[in-house]
Amino acid sequence: MVDDVLMRREGAVLVLTLNRTEKKNALTGAMYDALSAGLAEANADAGIAATLVLGQPGIFCAGNDIKDFLAIAMSGMAGSPVIKFLKALVSNAKPLVAGVDGGAIGIGTTMILHCDYAVASERSVFATPFVDLALVPEAGSSLIVPELMGHRLAFEMLVMGERFTAARAAETGLVNRVVAPEVLEEAALKAAAAIAAKPREAVAISRRLLKGDPAALLARIDEEARLFAERLKSAEARAAFETFLSRSKS
Ligand code: COA
Repeated sequence: MVDDVLMRREGAVLVLTLNRTEKKNALTGAMYDALSAGLAEANADAGIAATLVLGQPGIFCAGNDIKDFLAIAMSGMAGSPVIKFLKALVSNAKPLVAGVDGGAIGIGTTMILHCDYAVASERSVFATPFVDLALVPEAGSSLIVPELMGHRLAFEMLVMGERFTAARAAETGLVNRVVAPEVLEEAALKAAAAIAAKPREAVAISRRLLKGDPAALLARIDEEARLFAERLKSAEARAAFETFLSRSKS
């Protein structure tokens, strides 16, 4: 586990904290691997009954590291840490809770779709600017978001890249609860601990019933990844990455 993802135990809750503040918690390959390892550890450990993912105060996650997009464009997505993490999210067997304070961008938003419960602070903002980067939605979001909020809101979020405030995220079912930033971590931990305290087998069976057969979701993740990899090679995507990276240097 790298320092960019911290892991700690709080009773029966495994807490994974994104810890790359200087880059707004943008996810690198090593961070995806650390998150996958955290989920695997939680699943294998009988002492753990729920996992909580947190960011840092004021920033949850700025999405995939945009520099890494350029590298992935060369090497492809198949078998990449991103795809392994997305599949780990789908096969994850224990309840997963997210505590979001601040920006949740790209995968910062789409990973929440795989959580069983999410708490956000009032100042959180959710955005998936895939199309503005000349990319396409990922993480199964093109399947889950229309089911969650209907086509038009899904279009607004995933294609138009509109930012959703915390209040709107709660209205549209993206998060369960909105709290003040000062109590975000405490509220998320409390929710995870409450889930962890319930009869574990009954939770696991109920969760499987609610989630249903993952085959369509896994197939969609693969289809999105194929299209995403093609888009990464496009001139318009490269131009969008260069624009972001040169902006951040100035
Ligand atoms: N990939 C790589 N680096 C990133 C990053 C990302 N996704 N998001 C932020 N960073 C880096 C910036 O390049 C900057 O690095 P520098 O200090 O070496 O120049 C540092 O993190 C701080 O970011 P900055 O943009 O200065 O912070 P901000 O508070 O003004 O804005 C965000 C924060 C999250 C709104 C903004 O960084 C952003 O829009 N990031 C890109 C989000 C995105 O499009 N992600 C991909 C989704 S598919």
